[in-house]
Amino acid sequence: MTPRSRIIGTGFYVPEKVVTNFDLEKLMDTSDQWIRERTGIVERRFVEPGVGTSDLALEASKNALKNAGTAAEELDFIILATLSPDYCFPGSACLLQTKLGLKKIGALDVRTQCTGFIYALSIADQYIKTGMYNKILVVGAEVHSNALEMSTRGRDISVLFGDGAGAVVVEADESGNGGILSTHLHADGKYARELMGEHPGSIRHPRVTPEMLDSGELNAYMNGRAVFKHAVVRFCEAIEEALKTNNVDIQSVRLIIPHQANVRITEAVAQRFGLTLERVYSNIHKYGNTTAASIPIALAEAVAEGKVKQGDNIVLVAFGSGFTWASALIKW
Ligand code: ACO
Repeated sequence: MTPRSRIIGTGFYVPEKVVTNFDLEKLMDTSDQWIRERTGIVERRFVEPGVGTSDLALEASKNALKNAGTAAEELDFIILATLSPDYCFPGSACLLQTKLGLKKIGALDVRTQCTGFIYALSIADQYIKTGMYNKILVVGAEVHSNALEMSTRGRDISVLFGDGAGAVVVEADESGNGGILSTHLHADGKYARELMGEHPGSIRHPRVTPEMLDSGELNAYMNGRAVFKHAVVRFCEAIEEALKTNNVDIQSVRLIIPHQANVRITEAVAQRFGLTLERVYSNIHKYGNTTAASIPIALAEAVAEGKVKQGDNIVLVAFGSGFTWASALIKW
């Protein structure tokens, strides 16, 4: 029998430092009301200087391993999704591996931004179904704060993002009682420039110039309206695809856990499926948009809050830079 991948432990970690919308008002021309009404964000967490993505990933991983009752030494492979690695290279999965005290197992970074965790989970699922690995650590982690320009020039981006990490332990399960039922991965690179961090990249010679710093070109760019429009459509398509593939009705889904991009996107998705907001998880008010970390953080919180119970169908769904979009249907 082909094994299924089962999530046997979840965990998350966010830095202690809370930055409220009112704190941002002191740094730029913005307001709590503007941010809250358009995004649902009330506060976010920022790391202290010297803390990198692999440090947050480590704490989330320790929590997930503890929750799974698994020792790090039992892991066969690590997959870490992030758009904010500690270094340009090597990837942060290698750093996480050594911080966990491990020496040899493979460690892979995934670079699909907001959909990174679902892509990473899908990769883990394939390795488990083929029998290549038995236990895999899948992590989403980001440090955004030190890439945000805390001024009026940077406000369209800087009010949206926060730091954090979430992790799951995935194990091969031959009981036939659920697990990851399917994953669905998509991309349309035509829209790459609508949401991007252009520099430092290989296309520009030289990669970084002092002028880039002065002009603000090093900041991420987002066409907010285009992102909003495509996100609502793709979120819904990806959910439909997961339901149809498994012949599952939306009413049999206990909880949808979307990437936490914007509460208005979440509300639009809930409305489209006729769901109350209790059935579409949201914690963006506390953490802002943590990109690849947002789904595993939300999943770990939902599990800890008793909102996901054994036998429940849950859908993970994401949309982000690339554009990429993805979903997963899991029987818990
Ligand atoms: N505070 C106050 N005013 C601001 C801010 C800010 N932080 N940022 C922009 N503004 C101003 C703009 O300068 C503009 O002023 P103007 O009318 O004088 O020119 C005005 O507010 C409206 O700006 P818009 O960009 O048109 O604002 P919009 O209503 O579209 O809201 C937002 C922006 C919230 C980003 C919206 O486009 C949106 O929800 N987009 C979805 C994208 C998203 O959620 N991205 C998250 C990250 S990507 C992801 O995870 C998939």
